[in-house]
Amino acid sequence: MTQSSNETWTVTIVVPAESSLDGAGETFELDVNTDETILAAARAAGVWLPADCQQGWCTTCAARLVDGDVVHPNARRYFDEDREAGYVLLCTAKPRADTTVVVDQYDDFLELRAANDNPPGNSKLDS
Ligand code: FES
Repeated sequence: MTQSSNETWTVTIVVPAESSLDGAGETFELDVNTDETILAAARAAGVWLPADCQQGWCTTCAARLVDGDVVHPNARRYFDEDREAGYVLLCTAKPRADTTVVVDQYDDFLELRAANDNPPGNSKLDS
């Protein structure tokens, strides 16, 4: 199937109950355009999610993909190991299917990066 830029997907955002974010324990459902990042769509809908660089670099926005599919065409660094472990960077992740993500996964994601000797894992964990 060919994707048009007008296509939208349903993205479900799960905020873990133990999260310190507003909305902890809640689930939000958004319509996200195929050309839009999940972070931008969430913020436009009033769902505040953590992010810093917004370039797929710092990993502040890390989330776990539990269902669906995303692409990261503009991420400055996104490794095969990240994808294989089921992590996404919401600041650059664009949906390609109805998708569910669990947000606020920065700490676990740093551990994954460190375990694979990928940045910024060890540099952040050691500081
Ligand atoms: S905000 Fe920096 S990687 Fe997403």
